[in-house]
Amino acid sequence: RGAASKGFANMAQKIIIDTDPGQDDAVAILLALASPELDLLGLTIVAGNVPLDRTLQNALTICELARRPDLPVHAGCDRPLRGALVTAEHVHGASGLDGIELPVPRMLPAPGHAVDFLVETLRREPAGSITLVAIGPLTNLATAFERAPDIAARVARIVLMGGAWSELGNVTPAAEFNIHVDPEAAARIFASGAEIVVLPLDATHKALTSRDCTATMRETGPVGRAVASWTSFYERFDQAKYGREGAPLHDPCAVAWLIQPELFSGHRVNVEIETEGRFTRGMTVVDWWAVTDRPSNALFIRDLDRDGLFRLLSTRLASLDRNPAP
Ligand code: RIB
Ligand code: CA
Repeated sequence: RGAASKGFANMAQKIIIDTDPGQDDAVAILLALASPELDLLGLTIVAGNVPLDRTLQNALTICELARRPDLPVHAGCDRPLRGALVTAEHVHGASGLDGIELPVPRMLPAPGHAVDFLVETLRREPAGSITLVAIGPLTNLATAFERAPDIAARVARIVLMGGAWSELGNVTPAAEFNIHVDPEAAARIFASGAEIVVLPLDATHKALTSRDCTATMRETGPVGRAVASWTSFYERFDQAKYGREGAPLHDPCAVAWLIQPELFSGHRVNVEIETEGRFTRGMTVVDWWAVTDRPSNALFIRDLDRDGLFRLLSTRLASLDRNPAP
């Protein structure tokens, strides 16, 4: 991690965010757009929380809210590598971005499939200069790695929200949603040899929103109002399910790790993906205590500084309302 932190010290880190917006994806994208440490080259869209036509529309809506109609948004895969798409309208609402009515976006998606954008960009830019931030099912990334195996060595790192160890699953007793939707894609990514940083439920379940934080955000302007409305909508599901105040802001943790990795802690361990288990398909099998001789293939984050994370989030999101993008 030292290398990663030093690398961020003096130049913006080029990133591509692969996403299935979703309210928490939206907050992650806005955080990236508000952070000078990051140079967001584009969004690649995948089916997940809701079908692809809606995740694509939601991504365009988010870009226009941030006044970034120039940002390339590429539509990607509309179903997992194997089996049918599993969505989560019961969590995110029918639109996938319920909580506030926003104008229908006028900006258009960029031409070209998301997988082509990933392959072409990674081949064009210097090796090791681009980080992939994956905050949805891993179908686009796995398809790109399948089509162009050479790009796995060109990626600086993959920072992904997904999986779980001691928190087990949030969509089945064994599996977290992003991995559950496309276990074959996840298995391909974890076997790719790319440097992987995992923000699992063990960490993101500690990124709980609070009424105070949401109320403060609501006052900053259109971006803050949208974020507060999204989190208020999103909270109802987790509060009913887990019986606690607040909701976990999963996806912003992946972006925040790139900005302030010192807010997080974890170990390099072996992570395998169960693709066949009758009850465990989609499980991340984490060898936290190194009881096997399987090689470490991921930095698995298990803890975070919640207050530090929300200080970062609220100050950066407020900046989008104070000095909107050009
Ligand atoms: O399990 C949480 C993950 O699934 C988040 O990325 C959320 O947006 C959904 O995609
Ligand atoms: Ca997501």
